[in-house]
Amino acid sequence: MKDLKNKVAVITGAASGFGRELAILCAQEGMRVVMTDVDEKGLQATDDLLKPFSAETLVMKCNVADAAEVERVAVATYEKFGAAHLLFNNAGVATAGPMWTTTLEDWQWTLGVNLMGVVHGVRSFVPRMLKQGDECHVVNTASVAGLLAVPASSVYCVSKHGVVVMSECLHHELEAAKASIKVSVLCPAFVNTGIADAARNRPQELAATSAQAAPYEEYVRQATRRGKLSATDIAQITMEGVKADRFYILTHPKIKAAIETRMHDILEERTPTSPMAK
Ligand SMILES: NC(=O)c1ccc[n+]([C@@H]2O[C@H](COP(=O)([O-])OP(=O)(O)OC[C@H]3O[C@@H](n4cnc5c(N)ncnc54)[C@H](O)[C@@H]3O)[C@@H](O)[C@H]2O)c1
Repeated sequence: MKDLKNKVAVITGAASGFGRELAILCAQEGMRVVMTDVDEKGLQATDDLLKPFSAETLVMKCNVADAAEVERVAVATYEKFGAAHLLFNNAGVATAGPMWTTTLEDWQWTLGVNLMGVVHGVRSFVPRMLKQGDECHVVNTASVAGLLAVPASSVYCVSKHGVVVMSECLHHELEAAKASIKVSVLCPAFVNTGIADAARNRPQELAATSAQAAPYEEYVRQATRRGKLSATDIAQITMEGVKADRFYILTHPKIKAAIETRMHDILEERTPTSPMAK
């Protein structure tokens, strides 16, 4: 999708990190912007950052793990703007720790947001985009954790592998249906955003996590702080990918060596190599 002016972008997780930077870029492109998140204060701050671009916006609180809330965003988007062209299923959270230490609540929360959040976005928006008939684009935020098996990240990796494979299936299905909707899957490595403090948005009823998760969470915090690319860089690379209709958007090329090793491990039926191995 090359010409973005006056088109409508919908962004989940727009209160922070990649979502906020994508909202700013969309406004700079002259798009109308729908911003959603569970964090209302953060959403308001993002909306304020869009003021210099005079972008028309719609700001809605929405928990992507709840299908009915995402559906309400779709209804409101079409009521206000009559269309949606660019959907960023971006909201995400992270949990850490060896698999045997994870709690059922870790699984329920992480899969609810990272995996079902994308399912809900696709189910609410893609049928409307198909009816609309315009050129549209769905960008699902996965991670390099969707292409690798990262130790102490089983819950997160499962959610992100799910996002990668769902995006691939969606692409094949839309192509078979000769739809004018393109798909991309965004796979960044560590970037300094709010992701290491994702628990700030964890619902009380799913709060139970393992005490053993703390050192792994600290590792993620340090790793994201060391990230060389910023959230702004990731948003820019993503928008370039959308304009070029690129399906896989891999923002950190160095990680491709580990992905290649994993592919060879599978094809040659070798024991898996840890992506942490130097
Ligand atoms: N930062 C990284 O290192 C990194 C790397 C790869 C992938 N990602 C992915 O990028 C996406 C964006 O994360 P980020 O790094 O910008 O982190 P972030 O914490 O800065 O932003 C995530 C946003 O999602 C929102 N959110 C959390 N739960 C939600 C829910 N149930 N419903 C709606 N919104 C919710 C948060 O309030 C927050 O505003 C996530 O999907 C994350 O998994 C991040």
